[in-house]
Amino acid sequence: MQNILEIEGLAKTYDGGFTALRGVDLTIRKGEIFALLGPNGAGKTTLIGAVCGLVQPTGGTIRAFGEDMGRHWRRLRRRIGLVPQELSTDMFDSVINTVNYSRGLFGLGPDPDRVEEILRSLSLWDKRKESLRALSGGMKRRVLIAKALAHDPDLLFLDEPTAGVDVELRRDMWRQISALRERGTTIILTTHYIEEAEEMADRVGIIQAGRIRMVEETREIMARLGRTEAVFTLAQPLEVVPEALDSFPLVLASDRLSLVYRGGDGTGQGKAEVARLTKALIATGVDYTAIDIRESNLEEIFVNLLEHADAEGEAA
Ligand SMILES: Nc1ncnc2c1ncn2[C@@H]1O[C@H](COP(=O)(O)OP(=O)(O)OP(=O)(O)O)[C@@H](O)[C@H]1O
Ligand SMILES: [Mg+2]
Repeated sequence: MQNILEIEGLAKTYDGGFTALRGVDLTIRKGEIFALLGPNGAGKTTLIGAVCGLVQPTGGTIRAFGEDMGRHWRRLRRRIGLVPQELSTDMFDSVINTVNYSRGLFGLGPDPDRVEEILRSLSLWDKRKESLRALSGGMKRRVLIAKALAHDPDLLFLDEPTAGVDVELRRDMWRQISALRERGTTIILTTHYIEEAEEMADRVGIIQAGRIRMVEETREIMARLGRTEAVFTLAQPLEVVPEALDSFPLVLASDRLSLVYRGGDGTGQGKAEVARLTKALIATGVDYTAIDIRESNLEEIFVNLLEHADAEGEAA
């Protein structure tokens, strides 16, 4: 089985009449880390909820582990873990009871060694007897992860696992998630931190207004839509871009004091072209005092894509 999850035509219209999912098709490969990106209200949590049984879909099919979820619900659901976006566990119980209870919920017997291992890996062992209420927000989020791991799921959903946690904790969680992948867990995460997707995900899916707009290898997106930008600060103002430089994608800034190169594909190929450009500038007698060069990141690509989609939407 190559695909761990196959979603087809998934639709959800909430009771009030709002349509949150408009026919989502999505296939998740076994063993990958998949990042689902999208603006607030795009339908990420609804999509996850539909797979985890928290949201009743109004159309479409979901197959998990090669079987229809509607038909084999209980058996398949046991193999899925969810770290929800909202912190709404029973706030009065202790950390360790909460995690043990979660195992029981999926019909598994107690396994103190495994639970200890999970709590230790999330630096929660020392806090195991504390009431959840007494924990900080970031620590509560760790408990949610521990809960989701308690039944050793093969497919794990993390709905904004690092929202509101500090940088250190976030790095820590990235390590946790990588370690899980090493164990063979397939991971689907949503995030608003695009660098998180860039750093972690094998593939990225972009959802907007209940539709999947794009699914691609993270590397491919960067290669296809990434750009190198180099700004040359000129020693003297230039009237026009010399003809000898026509082969380079150059724009002269309106103050005529900087020359901007935008090109390449985010794989470093643009840097090589900039290197050629520096020589061509010198050969053409265009003198400059500084070069500011940078690669675009997934964030810019993402914003661009959404703006593009909005413009298309308005045009239609
Ligand atoms: N129970 C509900 N009843 C009615 N509408 C709902 C309900 N839950 C969600 N919605 C609506 O469905 C849309 C999608 O919500 P969802 O929570 O899936 O978005 P999201 O992509 O997870 O957003 P965020 O990034 O803010 O978490 C939103 O417009 C939301 O208001
Ligand atoms: Mg959400």
